[in-house]
Amino acid sequence: MTDTAGTGALPVEGVPAARVLDEIRALRAGDRPTHGGRLFAYVYDPGVAGLDELAQAAYAESAHVNGLDPTAFPSLLAMENALVGAAARLLGGGPGTSAPDVVGSVTSGGTESLILAVKAARDARPDLAEPRIVVPVSGHAAFAKAAHYLRVALDPVPVDPVTLRPAVADVAAAIRPETVLVVASAPSYAHGVIDPVAEIAAVAAAAGVRCHVDACFGGWTLPWLRRLGAPVPPFDFAVPGVTSISVDLHKYAYAPKGVSVLLHRDPGLRAPQFFAYADWPGYTMVNPVIASTRSGGPIAAAYATLRHLGEDGYLRLAAVTRDAVAGLADAVRAVDGLRLLAEPESTVVCFTADDPALDLFVLVDELTARGWHTQPQLAYAGLPASVHLTVTAAVAPRVAEFGPALAEAAATARAAGPVVLPPELLALAGSLTPEALTPDLIAGLAAGLGLGAGAAPDRMAAVNTLLQAAPVRLRERLLVEFVGLLQRPTW
Ligand SMILES: Cc1ncc(COP(=O)(O)O)c(C=O)c1O
Repeated sequence: MTDTAGTGALPVEGVPAARVLDEIRALRAGDRPTHGGRLFAYVYDPGVAGLDELAQAAYAESAHVNGLDPTAFPSLLAMENALVGAAARLLGGGPGTSAPDVVGSVTSGGTESLILAVKAARDARPDLAEPRIVVPVSGHAAFAKAAHYLRVALDPVPVDPVTLRPAVADVAAAIRPETVLVVASAPSYAHGVIDPVAEIAAVAAAAGVRCHVDACFGGWTLPWLRRLGAPVPPFDFAVPGVTSISVDLHKYAYAPKGVSVLLHRDPGLRAPQFFAYADWPGYTMVNPVIASTRSGGPIAAAYATLRHLGEDGYLRLAAVTRDAVAGLADAVRAVDGLRLLAEPESTVVCFTADDPALDLFVLVDELTARGWHTQPQLAYAGLPASVHLTVTAAVAPRVAEFGPALAEAAATARAAGPVVLPPELLALAGSLTPEALTPDLIAGLAAGLGLGAGAAPDRMAAVNTLLQAAPVRLRERLLVEFVGLLQRPTW
């Protein structure tokens, strides 16, 4: 009998539901573990029994609801408004605060929130031919993406190699008459440090410029950590001059992916974020966010998650996470040759290696081989290569196992020594311009690094070493080419 089902997405004859699910589960078996506290990036796991089932059921209820038209689906409007209200209240806005008129929108994620913050700032100044934004280099890469998509110039501000924060004087000096937005992070993703938000917002306000606080990562942890007694500096709408804040619910609010909130201090600031169009023969269109058709699934799932966990749930999860961060930081301190790049002040542990014999990229591979998935960060602008750990509540029960695993991985990495790439390859990476890359050269590089079509190698140290040897623009081009090799249709 011929197998008409094959393995493609569109078989000749439909496949029974149970088998389709089995196939997906088999594919998922090759993924990194989204639950269980061994993956320190990409996923946010509270480890709360029953929460996934609740979120999935809520998602299913609203998956086919379309956010395109809030009048057709008032359920979605009600849940969006409730999410915005909760985020605003948590971040210093709402009735009885100094920011009583806060409004917001639910977006698909941090990147969309940041793009829209930049769009709102840009479109509030139609008089400017060449609008610009001021962003510390520790700001999320999504600001560069926003600048690129929206044709806004990016003025990067360096960060101090010790504090990993921008100097306020440098931020002030970067503001020009064309500046439409100044950015601060609370905290930065890479290192988990909180920028001097009050000072940055003050210099922005003095120049009459909007100030966006990117709290995509920390907006749903810092307020709880503060309530638990941590010395969290002011970073939200309590700070005069902060005009907008983003907070991702699919991060530390522990909602399934596809949901973030962008808040503005008042409706006037938000207005240029919207897009309306009536100059065509179809339906009248008004989109508060980038997407037009939007699934209600992520919004309903987030709503269910917030209501189920409640303030006491988040406070409890934050306490557990805080203790896990302290335990992981101790584990790093206990390994000779490793050093915390920043003292943890949120939910990130970030460390570097002071000993050249201990190659961080090899260490990351050794941890992966032991079932611990960390995130390598390349050396950049005077900052050393580092390893990033996003810490969530599900990590807590694992902390005691992590210390010995880290020590063992470090000993193995030290014994193995740093990755040695052929000197001519390193010289090539250091000197090539992106324009000089030919398809043959890319294919040769990829093959040499084990990057086959549709698959990445188990060990990434060689890839990271090569990328690190390359100047920034070449790094970007190589990344595009390498991922282009992975994204090929299967037939
Ligand atoms: C501080 C910060 N801003 C923005 C983003 C982008 O968020 P997303 O990946 O949801 O687009 C992230 C993601 O990690 C982040 O940490």
